[in-house]
Amino acid sequence: NNKIVFPELFFTDKNLVGRDVLKISRNLSDLKGIFADAEAFERMPQNQLAYEVSSFLPEKEGTPGGLYFGITYLYPGKVGNEYMMTKGHYHANVDRAEFYWGLEGEGMLILMDGQRNVWAEHVFPGSLHYIPGGVAHRMANTGSSLFSFAACWPSDAGHNYAEIAENGFSARLMEVNGVPHLI
Ligand code: F6R
Ligand code: ZN
Repeated sequence: NNKIVFPELFFTDKNLVGRDVLKISRNLSDLKGIFADAEAFERMPQNQLAYEVSSFLPEKEGTPGGLYFGITYLYPGKVGNEYMMTKGHYHANVDRAEFYWGLEGEGMLILMDGQRNVWAEHVFPGSLHYIPGGVAHRMANTGSSLFSFAACWPSDAGHNYAEIAENGFSARLMEVNGVPHLI
């Protein structure tokens, strides 16, 4: 498979050399409850791969001042008319910011502030996105090929998935007449 490769780890700090890249994958079954069309979701193979994340975490989780780097590979598809997407989260340390940038394929970055206002940004190879502190973030693949993006976030950000799992985002990215709409 020809997906974008993780950068070569190239550091002069001897303590970092040889650290592993952490790889996690999410199947459809890990995304239960996040899509609007629960019946369409149940009809799909639950072991279908939805996305993979490769991360380089050179500091211990929670270290103030450190940075993490990751690439997410989000596969194309739809659940009903809703585009395949990541779970989405606030950071546990809610004021911690993050950069996302597009690598291959295309998608939309869905953002929600603390007042539940939602907006979205078009992500494409070379686009750069700043996610301010306090803003929940989720990516959707709006294309028909693999959508890959990179991320850089503070090592003391942490992840708050519970808030999104319970209350979702206040808008969804749906395909209407062949094009994505925030509804
Ligand atoms: C890290 C970050 C990304 C996501 C990844 C998967 O703070 O925002 O690396 O973790 O794109 O999405 P989630 O974590 O929402 O399943
Ligand atoms: Zn994040």
